[in-house]
Amino acid sequence: MAPTLLWVGLGNMGRGMCRNIVEKGQLDSPLLIYNRSTERAEDLSSKLPVGKTEVVDSLAAAVPRADVIFTCVADDEAVRELFRAMLEDDDVKGKLFVDCSTIHPESTEAIARDVLASGAEFVAAPVFGAPAAAEAGQLIGVLAGPRASVDRAKPWFSGVMARTDIDLGGQPCGRASTLKVLGNTFVFNMVEQLAEAHVVAEKSGLGTHAVHQFVEALFPGPYAAYSTRMLTGDYHKRREPLFAVGLARKDARHAKNIAAAAGASIKTLELADAHFAMVREHCGESGDIAGIYGAARQEAGLKFENDAYFLQQRPPHQPLPKLSVASRTSSTSALECRWTIIFAMAQWYSIFIGLAVIVVLCVASWFLAPKGQNQVFVIPFPTPATGQSRRPYSAPTDVPLTTAAYRLWRSSLILSIVSCFLMWAITFLAQLNPLIVPKRSDLREKFLEH
Ligand SMILES: NC(=O)c1ccc[n+]([C@@H]2O[C@H](COP(=O)([O-])OP(=O)(O)OC[C@H]3O[C@@H](n4cnc5c(N)ncnc54)[C@H](OP(=O)(O)O)[C@@H]3O)[C@@H](O)[C@H]2O)c1
Repeated sequence: MAPTLLWVGLGNMGRGMCRNIVEKGQLDSPLLIYNRSTERAEDLSSKLPVGKTEVVDSLAAAVPRADVIFTCVADDEAVRELFRAMLEDDDVKGKLFVDCSTIHPESTEAIARDVLASGAEFVAAPVFGAPAAAEAGQLIGVLAGPRASVDRAKPWFSGVMARTDIDLGGQPCGRASTLKVLGNTFVFNMVEQLAEAHVVAEKSGLGTHAVHQFVEALFPGPYAAYSTRMLTGDYHKRREPLFAVGLARKDARHAKNIAAAAGASIKTLELADAHFAMVREHCGESGDIAGIYGAARQEAGLKFENDAYFLQQRPPHQPLPKLSVASRTSSTSALECRWTIIFAMAQWYSIFIGLAVIVVLCVASWFLAPKGQNQVFVIPFPTPATGQSRRPYSAPTDVPLTTAAYRLWRSSLILSIVSCFLMWAITFLAQLNPLIVPKRSDLREKFLEH
């Protein structure tokens, strides 16, 4: 009989991890799911096959029913709070707790001690990989703790939630957290490097596309994926970050602290962390670590948001970037300038400019159109065969063939102009406030690692 599982924490990561457990894990009973705000649990449950999950609204009710309890929440304080709640009331003897959150190794060790003292088992299992990798079951799990406990947890990692595991079985739980935090510094430095290179490429006239091509050729995978996120403007358009800058700052703090405790330092982190602070200030809670690009741009005298702005990808709540043709700098490439002009045309007030133009055209049509008895005559092209103009069936017989062939009421002209405007206006407004926000499918986010 397969153990009953409880999952606690349904943020960006937890949701994808649960989906894979439900789809690929061995379960004889529904996966119990809990989240501090219950709506997230209900929402996830409604998207998974019926009967595969059961939403629980209290840990006190759920923990006694579970054999294995996974946790994946934001930070050290959240993990400590959860474990205090789970351990204080219930008899947890024999249960296995698996924590997938990224926290400081000392927090991990303290929690492991409390769990073991309650007669349960504990495995630290932080994961590498972005939310898309969690969704695709392509994470990299780092598992540490007593050998037997790690072996008990492994069936839900490689092949289910993860594409591979780093097995630190038999080593102190805190080691998994140390590796996870250190691993994240690689990601931060990668993003920092990309951001700076793109800024220099833009300002020097080389152009960001050349750098992107180089990155794709030499560093495919996460480098290329982050480069794409920068150049497509994904770094400033997301409502929900893929890797929240707040979580990244927590990891940077932990990494600096681990290094200092070991008598070493990670100097490159200072730069990334200063940029994280700028991203947080500019974007607030929704800031993503790829926003380092925006911070580096600001430092170089550019706008935080780049001009590679695809209207159809813009979340409805965000205003269009303020752009103008005059903002072109000597280093702006022709392509970027073309985008600038397009987006200047795409400001919300373009609809009124368009309306004014149409009114002027209609008035001009009414008064200036050549007419005889309220009619506008359109001079035809000669027919190719004879060089003579043809008299269409509708043309009045008193009109000489050489001057007009058919008649057009000027009101028809005005109606055509108005119809064109309406068609454009409807399309334009649909882009400003799309009912459906299309998502790019070619960002290859599953290759992002952090
Ligand atoms: N995002 C990534 O790319 C990534 C990659 C690898 C590892 N990680 C790590 O995985 C963990 C989860 O990340 P995430 O991206 O899923 O975060 P997230 O989307 O911000 O979700 C955070 C989760 O923690 C819960 N939570 C926060 N404070 C809590 C508290 N005091 N008590 C109970 N629950 C609390 C939230 O509940 P509510 O829904 O009620 O707010 C939510 O379920 C973090 O430790 C992160 O560092 C993240």
